[in-house]
Amino acid sequence: MIDVLLGLQWGDEGKGKIVDHLAEKYDIIARFQGGPNAGHTLYVNGTKVVLHTIPSGVFHEHCLNLIGNGVVIDPVTLQNEIQKIKPLCPGLTDRLFLSHRAHLILPTHRALDAASETAKGADKIGSTLKGIGPAYMDKTGRNGLRVGDILSKNFKEKYDRLTRKHLEILGQYEQVVDWKQWEQPFFEAAEQIAQLQIVNAEYWLDNHMKAGKRVLAEGAQGSMLDVDFGTYPFVTSSNTIAAGVCNGLGVAPSKIGEVYGITKAYCTRVGGGPFPTELLDETGEALRAAGNEFGATTGRPRRCGWIDLVALRYAVMLSGVTKLIITKADVMDNFNPIKAATAYIADGRETKEFPYDVCDVTIEPVYESFAGWDQPIGKCTQYADLPQVFRDYCRFVEDYLETKIAYISNGTGRDQLLSIP
Ligand code: GDP
Ligand code: IMO
Ligand code: MG
Repeated sequence: MIDVLLGLQWGDEGKGKIVDHLAEKYDIIARFQGGPNAGHTLYVNGTKVVLHTIPSGVFHEHCLNLIGNGVVIDPVTLQNEIQKIKPLCPGLTDRLFLSHRAHLILPTHRALDAASETAKGADKIGSTLKGIGPAYMDKTGRNGLRVGDILSKNFKEKYDRLTRKHLEILGQYEQVVDWKQWEQPFFEAAEQIAQLQIVNAEYWLDNHMKAGKRVLAEGAQGSMLDVDFGTYPFVTSSNTIAAGVCNGLGVAPSKIGEVYGITKAYCTRVGGGPFPTELLDETGEALRAAGNEFGATTGRPRRCGWIDLVALRYAVMLSGVTKLIITKADVMDNFNPIKAATAYIADGRETKEFPYDVCDVTIEPVYESFAGWDQPIGKCTQYADLPQVFRDYCRFVEDYLETKIAYISNGTGRDQLLSIP
């Protein structure tokens, strides 16, 4: 069986920290989608580490880590990441595996991402500019290069052919970044990547599962950034929901076990696009300050707002979440009251369904208010230690989402995680 952990909002829910914790119980951690647009933060012996492509189980010596076919890999970012964490991570490359089938991000993909965003002007997605969209476009357009191609004799030829195609498209844009400077580092990093353990990952995983190994699939981004079900077109280019695990790793739906869904106790979004519960006032700013809400990949300030139970219920439904995890509960310590959106007024009609159109229709959230707890909870070590008002709030969230909370995270530290009996 393979369990899944994914974000239920617009990313940055604290997936890195939770995977790092859960990794104790698993033998293999596998990334199934996304790429270096992800920034997963965790703390290793007090040192902050941000992972972009490498799975967050890597700091556990018993864990094998797989980068699956659904991931898009920038060899330079991956190589830099390996060099950076090597000193903290004994046996890193012995425990890191790559699928032959994972697609590569080329320097010209990054140039295309930048050119496309600039051309969109005020309507830009707010992409991380890592080349994600163009790389996935080449995958579905059947032009892409894969990790396995690095091993082929004519890799350079294939690269040149695709780059020529990109240059034709780039010729249509007014502003094009100097991507040539990235070419040499790309080939150097690709050579290094060729030395890593590149496997037929679907068989590799199946054999491990048959041998009884426990596998956790680690999601990137969040459900509301899913290319099909998110706030399109302000989304990423992969399927971030549980369905993405099957085609991003080559495992059958019947093999999926628990689905852990993570939400912050409030809500954030980085980049453009609709965000119904966004707070553009001092409460939003206070959330940003209290939660230190600045992007782990780009450093951009994250937009902040109240928790959105309408969007969360949608995300729970889409992935069949069996266990909820609430992170950053401590950030709410000094907010009173605390609000939660329980319905939307969309086009004048009240609804609890996430609407198809959230871009051109005004959405007004309907809020329920809860008493704050006005005390720090970061030192609580058991659920019973938490203030009663906080536990009442948790009960409300569980009832609304019809899903039990398994963990509450009350700080950045590895040990600041309460499991709920
Ligand atoms: P990810 O992309 O889902 O892995 O999340 P990020 O790492 O981008 O952002 C989550 C941020 O919140 C990181 O800086 C974490 O260290 C931090 N964090 C995670 N859990 C908690 C928590 O319970 N409380 C607080 N205060 N910070 C947390
Ligand atoms: P983690 O895994 C938050 C957002 C970008 C942009 C949109 C498209 O750390 O949760 P892309 O680079 O994919 O073309 O950007 O998606 N985005 C994220 N936001 N966390 C992430 O990853 C994100 N990855 C992409 O800000 O709005
Ligand atoms: Mg992140």
